[in-house]
Amino acid sequence: MNAGGDQPESGRDAPAGSRERIARAAALLRAGGVVAFPTETVYGLGADASNEEALRRIFAIKGRPADHPLIVHLADARQMPEWAHDIPAAAYGLAERFWPGPLTLILRRQPWVSPLVTGGQNTIALRIPSHPVALALLGAFGGGVAAPSANRFGRVSPTCAEHVRRELGDGPDLILEGGACSVGIESTIVALTGGAPVVLRPGCIRPEALEEATGESVGLSGRSRTVRVPGMLASHYAPETPLRLAQGDQLPALAAVLSAEGKRVAVMALSGFRSATGETVAMPSDPAGYGRDLYAVIRMLDGGQHDVILVERPPRERAWLAVNDRLQRASGGNAD
Ligand code: TXA
Ligand code: MG
Repeated sequence: MNAGGDQPESGRDAPAGSRERIARAAALLRAGGVVAFPTETVYGLGADASNEEALRRIFAIKGRPADHPLIVHLADARQMPEWAHDIPAAAYGLAERFWPGPLTLILRRQPWVSPLVTGGQNTIALRIPSHPVALALLGAFGGGVAAPSANRFGRVSPTCAEHVRRELGDGPDLILEGGACSVGIESTIVALTGGAPVVLRPGCIRPEALEEATGESVGLSGRSRTVRVPGMLASHYAPETPLRLAQGDQLPALAAVLSAEGKRVAVMALSGFRSATGETVAMPSDPAGYGRDLYAVIRMLDGGQHDVILVERPPRERAWLAVNDRLQRASGGNAD
């Protein structure tokens, strides 16, 4: 299905010794298997997007409700019309500028696309990831690979292969290694299904960059504009340990109160604050670095050794939109 017929250039950059594993992974996908693979954002749990039996296995392994749509990953932007129709010029502009990369486009779906991929909607999500292992796999497979994040439904996305192994065990037929994800939070999702482009999920590609690439003003969906939409937050992206957000100036007092209550407190700090009693992680002070480390730090602190994870709230600035969105959801709306 790869319009060009050959593998993408960057497939050659796949780590040494991985060629055989890529070939095996592609063969597994062709046979209806489920393969976890690295992308630059988070690890995905992939299956042949045109094989309904394989798609059902993704939902079973994740414990995900079947009405949640999946992103279809492609090797080449020329494959877009196989999955979508009435593709606007803005979509080609964004694909040209940001693919391969952490951007997902929502377009009108072709009629043959399985409702298991689209959640029964008339739209489809498409993305070309930039991780060399992902590109090599997609190139070798040739078709579309439907892949949600490779975590159990409602849990924090995995940013290294070990996270996937610990969380999904031998659910997937194969887990491809690709190191730690460089972006660390899920792709920016933009809807291009009529009218102005709208960001449905903020990510590391910011609205300003999308506006520059399309020459159109880009809207933010309710969830992106305000990160306080309780209905969409509950239990999503959540650790087992309660996560609470606090302003920097309230952090010392809150940590002291919680410790005095006998709670074992872990702190994710930005300002240099150090907890006198519990574990403190100094988070990167830039949004990209923070996003890269976020899920790995949450997982590390979520092992049952703490009763609460106290997070110093990052600045409420546009540059921090995606990080604030994920933190708000990890807190289940349990903010200060
Ligand atoms: O970075 C990412 O996007 C990762 C990697 C693996 O590519 N994938 C990912 O997939 O985050 P998932 O399934 O965990 O999240 C996909 C999001 C969901 O919130 C889903 O509702 C939305 O994409 N989505 C998928 N298809 C859609 C559609 N047709 N319309 C609106 N939203 C859609
Ligand atoms: Mg997910």
